[in-house]
Amino acid sequence: MSVGTNSIGKPVSRIDGPAKVTGRAKYAAEFSAPGLAYGVVVSSVVAKGRIISIDRSAALAVPGVIEVFAHDNRPSLPSSHEKYTDQVAAPGSPFRPLYDGEILFSGQPVALVVAEELEIARFAASLVDIRYETEEAVTDLDTQIDQAFEPPEKRAPDWDPPARGDVDSALSRSPTRIRTEYRTPVEHHNPMETFGSTAVWNDGRLTVYDKTQGAPNCQEYLCSVFGLAKDKVRVLSPYVGGAFGAGLRPNYQLFMAALAAIGLKRSVRVTLTRQQMFTLGYRPQTLQTLTLGAENDGRLVAVKHDAIANTSRFEDYQEPTVVWSGALYSCDHSTVTSRLARLDLFTPCDMRAPGGAVGMYALESAMDELSYAVGVDPLELRLKNYSERDQNKNRPISSKALKDCYLQGAERFGWSKRRPEPRSMREGRELIGYGMATGIWSAFFVPTSARAILAPDGTLEIACATADIGTGTYTILAQIGAEMLGLPLDKVIVKIGDSDLPSAPVEGGSWTAASAGSAVVEACKGIRKELLKHASAINSSPLQGVDVADVTIVDGQIRMTSDPSRAMPLSEVVMGLKEPIRSEVSAAPDERALEEYSHYAHSAVFAEVRLDEELGMLRVARVVSAVAAGRILNPKTARSQILGAVVGGIGMALHEETVIDHRYGRFMNHNLAEYHVPVHADVHAIDVIFVDEQEHRLNPLGVKGVGEIGIVGTAAAIANAVFHATGVRVRDLPITIDKLLELRQPTSNHAA
Ligand code: MOS
Repeated sequence: MSVGTNSIGKPVSRIDGPAKVTGRAKYAAEFSAPGLAYGVVVSSVVAKGRIISIDRSAALAVPGVIEVFAHDNRPSLPSSHEKYTDQVAAPGSPFRPLYDGEILFSGQPVALVVAEELEIARFAASLVDIRYETEEAVTDLDTQIDQAFEPPEKRAPDWDPPARGDVDSALSRSPTRIRTEYRTPVEHHNPMETFGSTAVWNDGRLTVYDKTQGAPNCQEYLCSVFGLAKDKVRVLSPYVGGAFGAGLRPNYQLFMAALAAIGLKRSVRVTLTRQQMFTLGYRPQTLQTLTLGAENDGRLVAVKHDAIANTSRFEDYQEPTVVWSGALYSCDHSTVTSRLARLDLFTPCDMRAPGGAVGMYALESAMDELSYAVGVDPLELRLKNYSERDQNKNRPISSKALKDCYLQGAERFGWSKRRPEPRSMREGRELIGYGMATGIWSAFFVPTSARAILAPDGTLEIACATADIGTGTYTILAQIGAEMLGLPLDKVIVKIGDSDLPSAPVEGGSWTAASAGSAVVEACKGIRKELLKHASAINSSPLQGVDVADVTIVDGQIRMTSDPSRAMPLSEVVMGLKEPIRSEVSAAPDERALEEYSHYAHSAVFAEVRLDEELGMLRVARVVSAVAAGRILNPKTARSQILGAVVGGIGMALHEETVIDHRYGRFMNHNLAEYHVPVHADVHAIDVIFVDEQEHRLNPLGVKGVGEIGIVGTAAAIANAVFHATGVRVRDLPITIDKLLELRQPTSNHAA
């Protein structure tokens, strides 16, 4: 594939950028409809129990209030409602809004007030008088460790690889052993755009603008829950203001908006407040134990990793937390296990690099602890234990340029300037620490369909139901189309975020560039074939008899690759078209390549932290993230993905924590004032390197995806840098100053 000026590999600015900065890009809650009504959700104030009465009279008495929906008066739902699952559902019984009076978690949606205006609905919602019978809710994971269980139904079998070797006897023989426990808290995604759905009712048809990472997923959900034919429901998500996984599953505002629209035969919009964003899925809390056995020189002998995470009472949410510990490093003996404990909370939900972000925090912190125990530089330790094979499956990795990540990252960062001793680097009042960690994430290619239409005016339309959650999907799909057909970028129109378009899985798992991208490649190949047919049919065409595999379209020319003198202008062929050329395909991976090889993206993360000892201010002064993720379609949008994920990693390391008051079973800091995320003042230099990595098996583009790899390892690199700076090992995220002070060694000479 040749590279044109606007196409693959170029740092093209987002094609949706102008629409976004001028406000022309419309988000789910910005669409309108004639007679639109507004719904406000009433949330349960108790965490467990049941509703004994609902008094709507005061709410209904407010002029402009249309209806107050709750479990006792909602329109009846078909039996398919009982057993729906969505594409991303965990094993169990999904939460059904307004199903009955049972309360399963604090903040559970219990009623929807619909009114002529949003403010009327909001006011009336405060007047709905709900009485509860309350039971004691259990939300403290520490009290449930004895009840932790292995989920009977696995979300993915690969996440629990079988044990290899004999880890316990290997540990007992190991000259060096470390056993440490790490904790990570509940975190909420908190994208800027809160969830909202505008359900447009049109004579029995429902068109819903929804904030979602999967329009087809939400369409299927609505069809099965409300018993509607597929052609009666269309879900659109043209623009999504961030999601980080929070929009993978249909959220309850979608149900509420559709229920009200169907019940009232009228268009209804339901939006959630920032507080209500904390009633959706979240990153679960984890308690993790890492045991490493090593030779005196640092070579690993045994790795044991056990993780306990919370789930809800009704679903067994699982994520890949421990699988990496078995896979990454060369080691003959390994056992990794993960268990769940039930709490009276809503079900957790995938959040950027689910499992990987927290599991690799534990593994890479333990590796850092091992480096001090054996007196081997942390980077050297990773290189000593480098594996060319997937240790879990004992099979080759299709491509792995992790070594280049380590070396180029270390070089850029200046790792060689690191002094090995903790508390040995200082500048004025500031203690300086250098830390590093490895990142790993699966590279996927999931079946996806796409359509390409080339019009006689020379414009190409690309269509796929996938979403752009701010990642750059619009842009890279346009680049791929432009590349394939030798067109300028502004001749490519991309349509996505619509369940009417060729089907795509949810936009997640970092698989969209690889999957939707490959589907666009295949669709465009169909166009090429047709174009060549048309070109060959032209009198005295230089392309007669040329095989499509030997054709390149570049710089406005269709030419024979092996003999470029045989060429003709693309415009000549296109202008001769009597009607548009269409090509629609389903792209799917080569199953053999998936069986014979493992596919991962990798990274090496280097962090410098600085602690002002007098003020107790801790900051991440620099991060270098060196990433190997196959082919980079657009270095500009890809870099932004890594930058954003590193900021997420800074948040995970130092700021983010959703605090539960166990007396009420309630998330307390449910706002962006008290749920801390890094702000500009917390984010300093971030340097992103994409190392060269050639991937030939996973998909036709050689793409691995960059949505999640940037957060994996980042929190560990920062935590390791904090230890190096201070000599204090906080094993409980986030690393806040109170924990540092509490743990500081009596020998240390803090001024504070
Ligand atoms: Mo990602 S957590 O699959 O949106």
